[in-house]
Formats: sequence, C-alpha cells, structure tokens
Amino acid sequence: MSADSLTPDLQFRDRMISLGLARVSEAAALASAFHIGRGDEKAADQAAVDAMRTQLNLLDIDGIVVIGEGERDEAPMLFIGEAVGTGDGPSVDIALDPLEGTTLTAKDMPNALTVIAMGPRGTMLRAPDVYMEKLAIGPGYPDGLVSLDMAPAERIHRIAEAKRCDPSEITVCALDRDRHVELIREIRTTGAAIRLITDGDVAAIMHCAEPERTGIDIYMGVGGAPEGVLAAAALRCMGGQICARLKFRNDAERARATAAGISDFDRVYRLGDMVRDNVIFAATGVTNGSLLTGISREPGFLQAETILLRSRTGSQRRMIYRHPIE
Ligand code: FBP
Repeated sequence: MSADSLTPDLQFRDRMISLGLARVSEAAALASAFHIGRGDEKAADQAAVDAMRTQLNLLDIDGIVVIGEGERDEAPMLFIGEAVGTGDGPSVDIALDPLEGTTLTAKDMPNALTVIAMGPRGTMLRAPDVYMEKLAIGPGYPDGLVSLDMAPAERIHRIAEAKRCDPSEITVCALDRDRHVELIREIRTTGAAIRLITDGDVAAIMHCAEPERTGIDIYMGVGGAPEGVLAAAALRCMGGQICARLKFRNDAERARATAAGISDFDRVYRLGDMVRDNVIFAATGVTNGSLLTGISREPGFLQAETILLRSRTGSQRRMIYRHPIE
C-alpha cells in the first residue's frame, strides 16, 4: 500500500505514527547516553538495541524489520524479518540502526546517531550485510549528474561545473580506510578538499543534503550496505541523489545476497530502487555532530535532539526532548 493511497483517517494515523517513530529513535539515544566515551562499543549498542526494540513494539504498526541488526541466526533482537509493533496498524517495512557509530560513541567522537525509517510493506531494499559502494550528492542538481561509472575526478569536475565553482571549492566526504587510498589520491589531484571520517556514513550522506550547514558537497566510497538504504531513506526526504552497488568479498557474502532475493550482483541501485515509496525517517544525535546535537546532561535532565522527516510532505521537524532523570 502506498502512503499516498492512505485514507484521511489512516493518513492522520500515519502522522501520529511518525511522532512515535521519533520517540523510538530518541529512546535508543537516551539509552546509549551512559556509554558515551566509556570505551565499550558492545554495551553501547546493546543498550540502544534494547531500548529501540521496546519502544518500537509499543507502536500501532504491523512492522517487519528489513534492515536490522543482522540475520536471524546472528542477531537475537531486531534481526531481519523480525515482526515489530503491536500488529494493530498499517503493514510497514522498518529499516533501523539503533546505534550508527558504535565506535564513535565509545570514543565520544562526532556524528553518532540512532536511526530508524519506515515505509509501506515491501518498498525498501532488503540489503544484505555486505559492503556497498556509494555516491551521494545533495538536492538541486540535474538527475544523474554523477555516476558510479565515472572516475572520481570526473565526478568532482561535474559537480564543480554545476555549482559554478572551482574544484578546489568542493569538499568530498569519505571513510578513512585503506581501501580508499587510491580514491583519496585521485580526489586530491583535482584540488578538492576531503573530510575523512572514521565511521558513520549515514550521517555523512545526510550531510550532502545540507551543504551550507555541513560543508560537504559529495560523498563517495565503500561502506555498509544496510547504512546505504538508511541513507537513501534520509535523502528521499531531504532531497539529493544516491547511487550504489553491492561489493562482495567472498562467496559467503554472495550467498547472503541470494538469500535476500538478489540475483544481479552488479546492479546499480538508485535512490528509488532502495526506497521505492514514501518513507518516514527519524534520527537522534548521540554524540555532537554538524547535523544534530548529541545527548547533553544538565542537573536532573538528559537532553536529546531528533530530526523527523516525511518524504510525502517534505516536512522536517527538529525536536528537543528533555528527559527527567533521578
Ligand atoms: P558501527 O558498526 O560502529 O556503527 O560502524 C558503522 C560504520 O562506520 C558505517 O557508518 C559504515 O557504513 C561502516 O561502518 C563501514 O564499515 P567498516 O568499518 O568495515 O569499513
């Protein structure tokens, strides 16, 4: 069922559910707050997973996790295929990452988020937990301005031309990984600047949608495939383009893709292939970042900032929640 085909009554419910989704993301962030800067990635992730699952199961939805913590046999909670919600409500797909940036959280480094997206049932790519080559730009550019088949330098020249600026005024964001040595070398030949990040490419791709605020024009490189679908959901709401291709390291990873129903291993996915209908997206800052403020403490309170996006209306809400603590 497309969100556009909802009756007025269900549309109202849809709007209310979106507020509930923000609470789910908020709860996960608040739960991970104690673990910020404490060096324990697993504990931080577990706290976020527990809280996200508990809150999600309070929502009046008939949800199925399509992007989650892993396959059923390796993730006890929020695994791919898990039914979530009360079962009394619209049939939806749920893509989530209870803590996107576990290391960022454990080390109190910028841009750790909790993330969740919801769309009508059967509309989100069930991406296997493998790598994905990603390329993203913000809104306002001609469709297909940059593509995965172009050399990195050409992408930068194209975007500079479209922005009517010199390539040296373009900033690229990429994960700081050995696999990107050649990519980084080629980008540097254009004179473009590079913001290298240690983790967190959902936030990085969202940065492309607000270049004036974040300073990022284009994201490129290889990261997790589940994060690619979440980033596509965010861009569907914020505007912008993303294209992506799965990257396999071995046959076991190809088998994961087959199990997820994928047969064309070289397929280039565009935004509309990953998120095929309207979507609601919520993210809460865990550590401070350029898009969202992280959890802060004041006497008697924890404070969280959440962004709630709906693609159908293009609406963006930023919410500050002050959570009383004993
Ligand atoms: P976490 O698992 O610590 O949350 O890391 C997330 C992340 O940095 C993603 O943002 C990114 O897509 C992926 O890991 C990159 O994977 P790798 O660390 O294997 O390069």
